[in-house]
Amino acid sequence: MEKSASKADDPANGEAKIIARSPAHALPPPYLFHALPHEFSGKTHYNRAFPLLANTRAIPDARAPTMTTSNEKPSLLSPNVANSNSGETHIRSFVHRRAHITPSQEQALARLLPLWSISYRDSILKPETVFGNDHPLILEIGFGMGETTQKIAQARPNDNFLGVEVFNAGVGALLKRIDDNQISNIRIIQHDAVEVVRDMIAPASLAGIHIYFPDPWPKKRHHKRRLVQSPFIQLLTSRLKPGGYIHCATDWENYAEQMLEVLSAEPMLSNTQEGYAPRPDFRPLTKFENRGLRLGHGVWDLIFTRNDTPTPELNWPKKEQ
Ligand SMILES: C[S@@+](CC[C@H](N)C(=O)[O-])C[C@H]1O[C@@H](n2cnc3c(N)ncnc32)[C@H](O)[C@@H]1O
Repeated sequence: MEKSASKADDPANGEAKIIARSPAHALPPPYLFHALPHEFSGKTHYNRAFPLLANTRAIPDARAPTMTTSNEKPSLLSPNVANSNSGETHIRSFVHRRAHITPSQEQALARLLPLWSISYRDSILKPETVFGNDHPLILEIGFGMGETTQKIAQARPNDNFLGVEVFNAGVGALLKRIDDNQISNIRIIQHDAVEVVRDMIAPASLAGIHIYFPDPWPKKRHHKRRLVQSPFIQLLTSRLKPGGYIHCATDWENYAEQMLEVLSAEPMLSNTQEGYAPRPDFRPLTKFENRGLRLGHGVWDLIFTRNDTPTPELNWPKKEQ
């Protein structure tokens, strides 16, 4: 088998490692060929690509697009730097991982992705159509294996949960949980959350945002990959309803400090506590958290709410039609 090597950084330990790519990666898996056009408003909404870090050069994606319909953009999950329509780029908070996937997760992807997931596309999602009700919508970014997502969604049946994750095995695992437990208030988007928030989530529409144990990118030179940075928090805040909350948790002290600094600096957010928050009852202990605790790390929760003031007109340029 012909193999080409590409360098990727490991978010968990911050080391660079070589990932082999086979030609099989040139074709998208069949389960990604689906679209649910009725779930979207006809009007294309766009906010400027937020540069997680500006002044970066785009790496062309050698892989074929993973989506096929005319108004869907190619999924660009592989390169470390993503392009936007406007030509701007942002550094991805994740890297392509050839992680182990179990046969049952693969089966769940093939069978259940069309039922419980929504394709990424550059138009605003209509949650009432997707969920069949207008319950409050909570966005979870990076749900991993979905264990927390499942528990929270079951404990809060009157809220809807939109989970965004890029990791195949994790998406398969959550699909299986949804199916095994007949959970009706979770939907999944398998795509870069930055692009999902930017392109699919209406301003002032979310009741809450969960970011639990985001990849810590411990090495200083990799901090630019961390998800919780001012531009993204500003974008996320714009998607919260007044009074809506953003809840982050991490077991990396240095990242907790960064989170506190970034969230505190966002003028549209208010801290619900003096500093860090006690873990709320609805957030169960996760596998990452348990691992962190075993390693002697602390765990820090942060809960901020959007100020109850009218939505400011955000000054991001609109995409040219
Ligand atoms: C360290 S894991 C934590 C998983 C889970 N929240 C937990 O607590 O167990 C971080 C997850 O975020 C996902 N992730 C990182 N950046 C992302 C992005 N931009 N969009 C979607 N998922 C992302 C990764 O694939 C990974 O599964």
